[in-house]
Amino acid sequence: MTSPYFEQAHEFVREYLMDKGAVPEEIRRYRYHHCLRVAAIGRAVAEAENLDADRLELACLLHDVGKFDSARPVDHGRTGARIVRPFLASLGMDSGEIEEICQGIAMHTDGLWNTPEASPDYTGELEWDSEPSVLARCVGDCDNVDRYGTYRIHDTMTWWRFHELTIPEQIERIDSYLVKIERERSYTCATPTCQSLWESALDEHHDFFTRLRRQISTCTPYLPYS
Ligand SMILES: [Fe+2]
Ligand SMILES: [Fe+2]
Repeated sequence: MTSPYFEQAHEFVREYLMDKGAVPEEIRRYRYHHCLRVAAIGRAVAEAENLDADRLELACLLHDVGKFDSARPVDHGRTGARIVRPFLASLGMDSGEIEEICQGIAMHTDGLWNTPEASPDYTGELEWDSEPSVLARCVGDCDNVDRYGTYRIHDTMTWWRFHELTIPEQIERIDSYLVKIERERSYTCATPTCQSLWESALDEHHDFFTRLRRQISTCTPYLPYS
């Protein structure tokens, strides 16, 4: 079972992201697939938490539509909400449902649903004057769960160009990343299900990089250089 709006929203996301020709194709493709994975996480979380699974799945599917459209990366949720609102209205969706989905999308990057003064997009006008629902808060949580999914290990090591680093450089990178992972543990999710998925994702990262560090370190006593 899925939302009656899912297929149209899926097509909208795919076209919207993949048509951004100025962005390298692999980056567009990653973002599109990430949206699909976050949608799946959203459905699973909603079903476990007795939330509206169609609605959370849809919000998660659409959450990164504004990824390539904002002046500051942190604003892409609020930009995305402005792109998504007329699309959902064109499907004939109820306005309360639209606003819950859009508020979740708007706040998924930094927890702020209205544009902060520091943003170039700031107009002084409030888009929302009420606190977000649990479902709206789950959008950012589900995004975070996928951001720290197994794929992120590959992405991180590719970003570091890990295979080009010396062993001391590799160990240094791993150590600072382990500190970052520990800092992420202060993030609190809106539901126990998200919290559990989030903590498991961080544990997986911690375990992998701790093991990798241990393995790399076994050869250092034999090396004539540091
Ligand atoms: Fe995002
Ligand atoms: Fe995302």
